Amino acid sequence: MKGVILAGGLATRLRPLTWVTNKHLLPIYNKPMIYYPLESLAKAGIKEVLISSSPDHAGQFTNLLKGGDDFGVKLYYSVQQNPKGGIAHAIGLAEEFAKGEKIAVVLGDNIFNYDLKPTVDKFTKKDKGAMVFGIRMPGMESKHYGVIEIDQSGKVISIEEKPESPKSNIAQTGIYIYDERVFDFIRKQKPSARGELEVTDLNNFYLKEGSLDCTLLDWWIDAGTSHDELLRANNLVADKVITGQL
Ligand code: DAU
Repeated sequence: MKGVILAGGLATRLRPLTWVTNKHLLPIYNKPMIYYPLESLAKAGIKEVLISSSPDHAGQFTNLLKGGDDFGVKLYYSVQQNPKGGIAHAIGLAEEFAKGEKIAVVLGDNIFNYDLKPTVDKFTKKDKGAMVFGIRMPGMESKHYGVIEIDQSGKVISIEEKPESPKSNIAQTGIYIYDERVFDFIRKQKPSARGELEVTDLNNFYLKEGSLDCTLLDWWIDAGTSHDELLRANNLVADKVITGQL
């Protein structure tokens, strides 16, 4: 399996911090944000990782991460020329890199302490399908994310992108595992109302054919949504690192 980290987008919500640099290079406690998803993929045993970023700051990623030796992986870089094409659009750019292998995708602003290795090892042997990772949120908080509805056996029933009335309190995180057919599904996608190829629409292809699984996480943060969330992420990560939980 190969790894893909998405670090594009414009991060307008974090300006002025993101005028001259990319959001995923901002500090989270003692490391740049992108270190966290990269270390998670490396820990899962993934040896080749593609980093997709936006045209303005692509060079900063190579300056920082170089060939990937410090992380025990081989790094590749790609530029998403339309930085708001959508998450599925950015995944689509990884087709040549994937070379017919399955892929694990992590959004560059997602931080979590879940060990992906057993899931990656199991999924590699699977015929087909996709995996999403969810997290339970307090109250109606899930409505700010993709919302995953599951039945009592853990089977996914629906996924909706930022619905007004969420059908569950489970938010879809930015961690996804896909089989080799993912690029065929992306080619069938149409832009959403906000003009993006949505990851939720992509996941719905797998849901419709009954091959989508969901794993629930205990702890996860999307560090890049606002200045307050960035500060909260810094404090939470500092606490987890100091107490040896990350
Ligand atoms: O963080 C989890 C959420 O991520 C999910 O719950 C949602 O279902 C999913 O759609 C996404 O929600 P957002 O709308 O908040 O995603 P955002 O636009 O903030 O982009 C997330 C990351 O993906 C960000 O680190 C930059 C990268 N990205 C995003 C877009 C739209 C790209 O690399 N290229 C893109 O075109």
